[in-house]
Amino acid sequence: MGNYSPDDFTATWARHDLGEVVVSAKEVHDRVLELGRQISLDYAENPPLLVCVLKGAINFMSDLMRAVELPVEVDFMAVSSYGAATKTSGVVRIVKDLDVDLAGRDVLIVEDVVDSGLTLNYLRQYLGARSPASLEVCALLLKEGEQRVQQSLRYVGFSIPADFVVGYGLDVNEKYRNLDAIYTYVGGA
Ligand code: IMP
Ligand code: MG
Repeated sequence: MGNYSPDDFTATWARHDLGEVVVSAKEVHDRVLELGRQISLDYAENPPLLVCVLKGAINFMSDLMRAVELPVEVDFMAVSSYGAATKTSGVVRIVKDLDVDLAGRDVLIVEDVVDSGLTLNYLRQYLGARSPASLEVCALLLKEGEQRVQQSLRYVGFSIPADFVVGYGLDVNEKYRNLDAIYTYVGGA
């Protein structure tokens, strides 16, 4: 994974709060295409329902759905976890639920980052109770060594160190989602 390069570092307005590039825009782009290809192969017989977990997964979902060459359907749900800003409490509140029925569907949850795994664990139980034919996860980022709940993730974009990161959908106080690369966050002053 890359270090700083001028090409990656176009976000002058955010410069003070960003540390190093954890995943460059090019690395994200290339990996999302790979994931799309793999999903296209794995689900060729049964195009999945892609479930985007708002808001963090919007950038990933938008790119991934276009990289899958199958007639996928998409839906969105929004969750928020109570607790401190940069750590999840594991208590998840459903802010927006899905619109479609999951019964008999092959469902692929599209997540931004798995940290403790508590959010995903909750989501799996919540959605799993609706009788999908299958329920798998495609996570862009997996924080190494942080999982408090064992996860079986069918697709992972990148394993990254446990630092807090922003960009490509990931936020601090709703900001930095519109960056194309993923950076460590060093702001907070
Ligand atoms: P978990 O429940 O600890 O796995 O945390 C998952 C959720 O916390 C993600 O869906 C994100 O919304 C948020 N989160 C965890 N780590 C980060 C990070 O490094 N940057 C931004 N959001 C994060
Ligand atoms: Mg968030």
